[in-house]
Amino acid sequence: MEKNLSKAFLKTSFFSAIILLIGYAATKHSSTKKMEIATDWRHDYHSFAEPNNAVVKHLSLNLNIDFEKNILSGFANWQIEKSADAKEIIFDTRDLTIEKITLNEDSTPINFELKSADKILGSALHIPISTTTNSVKIFYHTSQNALALQWLKPEQTTGKQKFLFTQSEAILARSWIPCQDGPAIRFTYDATIYCPKNLMAVMSVADNPQSINASGEYHYAQPKPIPSYLMALAVGEIAFKKINERCGIYAELPMVDKVAWEFADMGKMVDAAEKLYGPYAWGRYDVIVLPPSFPFGGMENPCLTFATPTVIAGDRSLVSLVAHELAHSWSGNLTTNATWNDFWLNEGFTMYFQMRIMEALYGKDYSDMEANLCVQDLQNTLKDFGEKNPDTKLKLDLKGRDPDDGMNDIAYNKGYLFLRLMEETVGRNLWDEFLKSWFAAHQFQSVTTEDFVEFLNKNLIEPHKEKFSSVNINQWIYEVGLPANATTINVTRFIEVDEQIKNFTTKNLIEKTVSKNWVTNEWLHFINNVPEKLSEKQLDNLDAAYHFTGNSNCEIADAWYYLCLKNHYTKINSAMEKFLCSVGRRKYLLPLYGEMIKSEDGKILAHQIYAKARGGYHSVSQQTLDELLKLKK
Ligand code: BES
Ligand code: ZN
Repeated sequence: MEKNLSKAFLKTSFFSAIILLIGYAATKHSSTKKMEIATDWRHDYHSFAEPNNAVVKHLSLNLNIDFEKNILSGFANWQIEKSADAKEIIFDTRDLTIEKITLNEDSTPINFELKSADKILGSALHIPISTTTNSVKIFYHTSQNALALQWLKPEQTTGKQKFLFTQSEAILARSWIPCQDGPAIRFTYDATIYCPKNLMAVMSVADNPQSINASGEYHYAQPKPIPSYLMALAVGEIAFKKINERCGIYAELPMVDKVAWEFADMGKMVDAAEKLYGPYAWGRYDVIVLPPSFPFGGMENPCLTFATPTVIAGDRSLVSLVAHELAHSWSGNLTTNATWNDFWLNEGFTMYFQMRIMEALYGKDYSDMEANLCVQDLQNTLKDFGEKNPDTKLKLDLKGRDPDDGMNDIAYNKGYLFLRLMEETVGRNLWDEFLKSWFAAHQFQSVTTEDFVEFLNKNLIEPHKEKFSSVNINQWIYEVGLPANATTINVTRFIEVDEQIKNFTTKNLIEKTVSKNWVTNEWLHFINNVPEKLSEKQLDNLDAAYHFTGNSNCEIADAWYYLCLKNHYTKINSAMEKFLCSVGRRKYLLPLYGEMIKSEDGKILAHQIYAKARGGYHSVSQQTLDELLKLKK
């Protein structure tokens, strides 16, 4: 029996002993209640797996990519570990067709049970095992609507070639691999992928190919244990360009040089990150820029970040995305949220770390612009959600809900502000030392919020009690809204922007020379902070001076369209439609469609645009927008 399992058993018997004790003292009602919560912390409501009974340790994946039928087919061979009396192992699946299952080296198919599908979680796959079972080989194929997969037609890519990519976080890995799909379960993997001969396939590993292989057969190994949500695959006419010895970029062939220029600082970012919080644990760090339908800004797939092309602004002004996904190599990939209720441990920590990397490379003036914009976003989200909304807590309760519901600014930016306050409370040196020790002590482990609070109390608060007298940790983590002692972030570079806003608002003055050196952050601050209500003439003037409509910088275009929609300014409609039909990043889509449907005319427009654009969006974006626009799938 493995370390992990025996630890889990120890814990179980410890808890049973305590429950017995509590049973004796039947009157101690409050302790019983506390105990229930204690055992609940670690429970992952978003997976059917029962890892204390039988758990996966290593995956050998073997998949053929069929661009005609848009399916993956092959097998997942899982090495497992189990308790002495385990009778079955349970996997998560979603819309998978299970063809047959064999055990160990035996080729005789065994019986299994695929339970009926839950709307959010998919179908549990129960496989009977015995004391001699060491591996379980599942032959299967994916459905054409596998939620994690997006199959692109040639016209949806820059290079006009077919493309496929996966997006597994949070619980979509089960739609392309039968797996124990919870962030507290880690495994190593190797894989063989067969793809069309003119294409290249890359995965979340350090040993990716760097050129197209004439046979179409590729091999991979990830020797570090990772959770299933970090399983990733991308296939297309991809090329590689080196940045330095351990970093490089992948992109569609026509984009490679542009991407390499934009991300030239990647190597320095890894160096800066290591200096802050310890050695980079994953070997290589590469980034692949995907076609524009990728539903997120970035995804921290180990060794190979997946990124949207919307950050290729041509002036390196959106590279904090790389800092963010790189930071996840520590916060998230090394030390992982144990359940999706603890999502802020992944994203809040990563926002904090991202800002520190940006500060190290570009100075505090620069990174504080981004921090300040995050706080502005947070304030809007809090207003939207309502300060009393339980989803404004850092520690979430997503039981019975799609984990996607918790993936918003709260985890990111309230989490960020909390950690920044910790830094300011205790001073940067002590805080950095503490964070470094947090990652070192929890490498390749999954952690709950409660693990963090315990570690924080023991290693930082207790030894420096006097400094923490005015910080209420429990309020920050377990209560709604934003505590009053949240830091305000003053930004010198925004003073000039605020002046321009004032000139424009009070004197209708647009001073073009002042903004000559502004980067994206300044423009965002400007667009987001001009008065919410503007006249048609004012919007005409802004656009004539600054050419926001159709701007090739997606962040600027998006912020501008949002402002225009709020003012029913219809001159943007055709440019906005083009934008919405070419970009699938959910961060842009949701606010724009959301604003459109607030008026009757806008609703018609939203439905018209969505009818054209929906087919080009990833299922993650489709799901959110179908719900928003109340469409039946
Ligand atoms: N891990 C997230 C993306 C994600 C979160 C995917 C939840 C699925 C479910 C990634 O690291 C992220 O935060 N991306 C941001 C980048 C930004 C904060 C720089 C994004 O996509 O906008
Ligand atoms: Zn992130």
